[in-house]
Order: sequence, then C-alpha cells, then structure tokens
Amino acid sequence: MRKVAVLGATGLVGQRFIQILSNHPFFKISVVAASDNSAGKRYRQAVQWHLDMPIPENVFEMEVQKCEPNFDCDYVFSALPSDIAGPIEDEFVKAGYIVFSNASSHRMDENVPLIVPEVNLDHLDLIHNQTTKGKIVTNPNCSTIGLVMPLKPIFDRFGIRQVHVVTMQAISGAGYPGVASLDILDNVIPYIKNEEEKIMTESKKILGSFEQNRIEFAEFDVQAQCNRVPVQDGHMLSVFVETEQQTNVDNIIKSFEEFEPLRNLGLPTAPRKPLIYLPGERSPQPKLHRNLANGMAVSVGRLVQMSPTRFRFVALVHNTIRGAAGCAILNGEAYELLRNR
Ligand SMILES: NC(=O)c1ccc[n+]([C@@H]2O[C@H](COP(=O)([O-])OP(=O)(O)OC[C@H]3O[C@@H](n4cnc5c(N)ncnc54)[C@H](OP(=O)(O)O)[C@@H]3O)[C@@H](O)[C@H]2O)c1
Repeated sequence: MRKVAVLGATGLVGQRFIQILSNHPFFKISVVAASDNSAGKRYRQAVQWHLDMPIPENVFEMEVQKCEPNFDCDYVFSALPSDIAGPIEDEFVKAGYIVFSNASSHRMDENVPLIVPEVNLDHLDLIHNQTTKGKIVTNPNCSTIGLVMPLKPIFDRFGIRQVHVVTMQAISGAGYPGVASLDILDNVIPYIKNEEEKIMTESKKILGSFEQNRIEFAEFDVQAQCNRVPVQDGHMLSVFVETEQQTNVDNIIKSFEEFEPLRNLGLPTAPRKPLIYLPGERSPQPKLHRNLANGMAVSVGRLVQMSPTRFRFVALVHNTIRGAAGCAILNGEAYELLRNR
C-alpha cells in the first residue's frame, strides 16, 4: 500500500478524496491537511462533513496537519483553493513528493500533464520533462472533464471543427460555504469567474497530441458560456459540435458505447463504461444520473443531428467526483501502475 496525503482534506473535494480513498486497494491515507484554522484539530472537529455517509473511521480521529512538506507519504492529492495551491504544491514537488492536483495553478504549465486518463493518458510522459525531485500531475476543471469525455470518441472517429458549450453548474462547484443562498435560490447566475476561459483552453490541451516531448494543442475552436444553477451536485453541459467528416446519430452513439480506453488496465476507480448514453427524452438529469458508476461516468443524452456535420447533445458530470477527486485518484492509479511496469 502506498501512503498518501490529502491537502484541503476538509473541503468539498477533500471530503470526496477521503470517501474514495477510505477503502482503496493501492492507497492508504496517512495525512490529512488543511488551513492553519484546522491544523491541530481532530478531523471530525475540523470538517463540516457534507456526504451522506459517516466520516470514515481511518480519518475520524486523525489530527489535521499544516500543508508543509514533512509528511510520511509518497503521493499527495491536492484539493487546495487555486489562489494558494501553486506555491504550496511547488514546495511538495521540490521536497520529492508526487503531487496530483485539482487546482488550476499548474494545469497549463508547459511541462505539467493535464490528464483525464480515458482521454489522454499518453500525456503523462510529460513529467519526464520536469527536472524537480518530485513531480506534479493535474486534472482539469470539472466542466472540462464533462466536455472532453464525450468529445474524445467524436474527435477520434470524425474530427472536430468547432465546439460551443453552455454549462449549468452545481453549487458544490464553488466549494464550501460557496455561493450565498440568497444569490442562488430561485435564481441562475450567468457568470462563474474564470470558468469559461478554463474550458476553452484546457480542452484544447487535453485533446492535443503529444509530439516530440510537447503538447500540440487541438486546433478546433471552443466557445463556452457558464451558468451557476440551484442544483447541489452535478454539472450539465449543452454541447454543440461540428465534425470534420459527415456522420450520423447512430455512429456517434456507437462511438460513445464503444469508448472503453482503460478496459484492460485494472485501475480500481475506472468505470467500466466511462460514457453512458441515455436514450430517453428527459435524460440526463443531475438528481437521477449524477451517481451512475459511483459518480465516475459521464452521462450523455438528447443527441440530435442538425446537419450532416452538426450535432447537439447534453452531458452530465458529477463535479466533485468525476470532475475532481475521482479523476485525480484515477491519475494516481495510472501513475502507480505505469511506474511499476
Ligand atoms: N468543488 C468542485 O466541484 C471542484 C471541481 C474541480 C476542481 N475543484 C478545485 O478543487 C479545489 C478545492 O475545491 P473545494 O470545492 O473543495 O473548496 P473548499 O470546499 O473551499 O475547500 C478548500 C480546502 O482548502 C483548505 N484551505 C483553504 N485555505 C487554505 C490555506 N491557506 N492553506 C491550506 N489549506 C487551505 C480548506 O481548509 P479549512 O477547512 O481549514 O479552511 C479546505 O480544506 C479548488 O482548487 C477548486 O477549484 C473543485
């Protein structure tokens, strides 16, 4: 078992890390860390627990540490706020830890892999360009993960000329305490700071190709418009895509259904079917479908053809699981597996 630490362990993403790692076949939590306000307290006292399961026993009485690189572990999962994550993660990397980060601070750095294992696991080799003692691997913004998963099989089979996406993002995406209830109840807020930029840049890095030790970004145009909606968990995306080649709805659904890129790797957190196409007119819905495959699958529905090369569909991603902690843990599993080969 490899010992791991969770930075930001008391936050909404941190709690998902605790949940998934509490019974993991490769990883064992040896440290939970958070801000100076929480350091020194028992985890149960420091956390405002939000999940519909009890706090796992393995961390219940654990003392919360400061985020300083003196931990007894090999891997560090970071769920720190992006405005402070950068320098803290750098300290851990310098000290020799392998950091898997959810924060945006290093995602677009030239030598930092930005990975969704089903989509671009080959980009992991970028870490060989990092000259530090430790290494850092990042996962994308939560909405970007929900976008690139269904785009990947379309991109591979039919090419993509352009993508427009409108998101409807859950409140938990803003962390805790997040958006004030007076702002979000009975309301939709048509702006989420930095979110549109992240979707528009990260998706082109992820769907780019790894050539001569660097990422060649995908060339298609991506436009995003993001909304915060009064849903607890689960980001919905209305996606409009123009393909390079002419195709049809049946071919695209087939590409979703045959998408099983991690099938033979034996990664414990990987869903057998990462894309689930739901044929009903009223699917997907956050309340009904966000937890499919333990929250690790992206649900897709309402696929409509508008012309020989233009399609629209709706995708749903569980933002704190598939869109955050689950993806980082999958990156950790892939790293662990590949380094042992
Ligand atoms: N929520 C999502 O759906 C989602 C999805 C994808 C990515 N992300 C990213 O994941 C990260 C965490 O998001 P979240 O939603 O879990 O946020 P959150 O609920 O606000 O939690 C933040 C965590 O960071 C800790 N923290 C705050 N300031 C700190 C400091 N100065 N030093 C050390 N620790 C500090 C907090 O500890 P205390 O409890 O002690 O304050 C808490 O554990 C962010 O970078 C976010 O952008 C979030």
